[in-house]
Amino acid sequence: MKRERRRGEALRVLVVDDEADIRELLDLSLARMGLAADCAGSLAEAKELLQQGQYRLCLTDMRLPDGQGLDLVRHIGEHHPDLPVAVITAFGSTDNAVAALKAGAFDYLAKPVSLEQLRAVVGSALELPPQKGSESVLAAQSLLGSSAAMRQTRDLIERVARSQAPIYISGESGSGKELAARLVHDLGARHDRPFVAVNCGAIPENLMESEFFGYRKGAFTGAEGDRAGFFQAADGGTLFLDEVADLPLMMQVKLLRAIQEKRVRRIGATGEEAVDVRIICATHRGLESLVEQGKFRQDLFYRLNVIELRMPSLRECREDIPLMAQSILTRLAAASGVPVPALTAPALAALAAYPFPGNVRELENVLERALALMSGKQIDVADLRLAPPSLGDEAQPGEAPLQEYLDQAEKRAILEALAKTRYNRTAAAKLLGVTFRSLRYRMERLGLNE
Ligand SMILES: Nc1ncnc2c1ncn2[C@@H]1O[C@H](COP(=O)(O)OP(=O)(O)OP(=O)(O)O)[C@@H](O)[C@H]1O
Ligand SMILES: [Mg+2]
Repeated sequence: MKRERRRGEALRVLVVDDEADIRELLDLSLARMGLAADCAGSLAEAKELLQQGQYRLCLTDMRLPDGQGLDLVRHIGEHHPDLPVAVITAFGSTDNAVAALKAGAFDYLAKPVSLEQLRAVVGSALELPPQKGSESVLAAQSLLGSSAAMRQTRDLIERVARSQAPIYISGESGSGKELAARLVHDLGARHDRPFVAVNCGAIPENLMESEFFGYRKGAFTGAEGDRAGFFQAADGGTLFLDEVADLPLMMQVKLLRAIQEKRVRRIGATGEEAVDVRIICATHRGLESLVEQGKFRQDLFYRLNVIELRMPSLRECREDIPLMAQSILTRLAAASGVPVPALTAPALAALAAYPFPGNVRELENVLERALALMSGKQIDVADLRLAPPSLGDEAQPGEAPLQEYLDQAEKRAILEALAKTRYNRTAAAKLLGVTFRSLRYRMERLGLNE
């Protein structure tokens, strides 16, 4: 074991590789960046050093004499969760890189490790903000909700923010995918670099390549100067590919290449340029099924979907609706300089039972409209103007267990009748053709009593 303390006060990096040459090369390169390195030749040595030293980054080879680099990644995840670890993978070994990222590696370096690559990884690792309690950090931010589903989502966001792994954010329309992408960026090492959001569905196909990769002066008629593309604009930061399912196949190939090589070529340029971007993508259309249908490339999907972050639908976080509604109303009222209105109990009940096919965005819209149109001081059921039940909006038989489906239908019928009769239960029961007692029983069973 070779241990070096000569750059005593400098930030320390743990280098783990069984080849002395590589250890030395990394050590030298790190020294040029003003960093000190301790070197280990095996898993056991690495674990021992980890116990003694304070490191800001660990670089490990994938194959070690007494185990796998992945074992070290897991060990560090368990015992030193604050320490970012990057694995060094064999040239062209996509599988290893993806496996390492999934296991919790912060990033990977492909052999032969270039100074450029090393600098980018070290830079990001040193930028990482210290891990804080998830609730305090994220509650202060914008992702509302304390249901189990939302808490899990926030936890995952905080964890993945500390890595450089590509993320695929799935979830229904309006469920907060873009919000989540921004949070990942804001909480991660790249927070003070650009976040570039690209709506892949909005770019004409013939402009895609120049929009993504940029061009050189004179590359085509009209190219009057050099222009950077999204990749260059996002260099050092995050490139958010929204509606990624809309990328044409031709562009998928080019994107895959750019992601794999971490380099792009501008139109009209002879050489490539290195880019360092973290890719986050999102779509409300399931990518898996598009892959099955041959509309999305499997290899690109594999590369993008290293970590999947599924945003829950608002239906999965029903218990969050009252608090969310309250805080959205507070924000909306403040923005238009009016006092914050209260929601009546029936209005809250109606919101809690509504299926929200458009998720939080729809909740925002409903409240915004209610705020504009309300007649009194409070927002009542009628002010919400919730869309009448249409079969398309709710669970279809077969999709949800039968009982759930029936309950949902029953709930909606009751709420509608209550809304029509301004919450007069006797009148509502009449409208529904059931006795008052029966209505009361059903409301109780469905949790509609406040
Ligand atoms: N958990 C949440 N807390 C607070 N606001 C939220 C939450 N989820 C979503 N929003 C808000 O809802 C709106 C829609 O969110 P966003 O644009 O991120 O959805 P999306 O999943 O990207 O939708 P689409 O698939 O239609 O693009 C935004 O105004 C966002 O701030
Ligand atoms: Mg979106």
